[in-house]
Amino acid sequence: MKYFIAADHAGIKIKEYVKELFVNKGHEVIDLGTNTNDRVDYPDFASKLCRELIKNEGSKGILICGTGLGMSMAANKFEGIRAALCHNEYSAQMAREHNDANVLCLGERVCGLGMINSIINSWESAKFQEGRHTKRVSKINALYMSCS
Ligand code: RB5
Repeated sequence: MKYFIAADHAGIKIKEYVKELFVNKGHEVIDLGTNTNDRVDYPDFASKLCRELIKNEGSKGILICGTGLGMSMAANKFEGIRAALCHNEYSAQMAREHNDANVLCLGERVCGLGMINSIINSWESAKFQEGRHTKRVSKINALYMSCS
């Protein structure tokens, strides 16, 4: 799987940790920054990542900021992006199995490394269950058009 990953200045430590976890699981990981402690604006990085995801069909994304909130709000503005903010492994599993989430959002100031590790394992091993969930995800996708 091709993964894109990006963070603001409040998420760079987790970004490095998560990158290594995904590479060790055999995924291709493309780092879109930021890579320094200089303050940046999370919508810029959410936007950069979502644009890559839309260009690279079938790829997935990881966005990290202090809480994960700003990244998820910004990412969900993009058509075709289903970004899920997960603070525990159950949410990560459901985000994949029921919602077919294609972006995982994490909060460096919320979760410790142990929880991040569990979240990644759940996210990575869960698969979209299709069936009744397919219609619901299609309805999420259709909301974008009906709102504009
Ligand atoms: C940066 O201070 C912080 O606001 C940002 O990382 C994020 O938590 C926003 O949702």
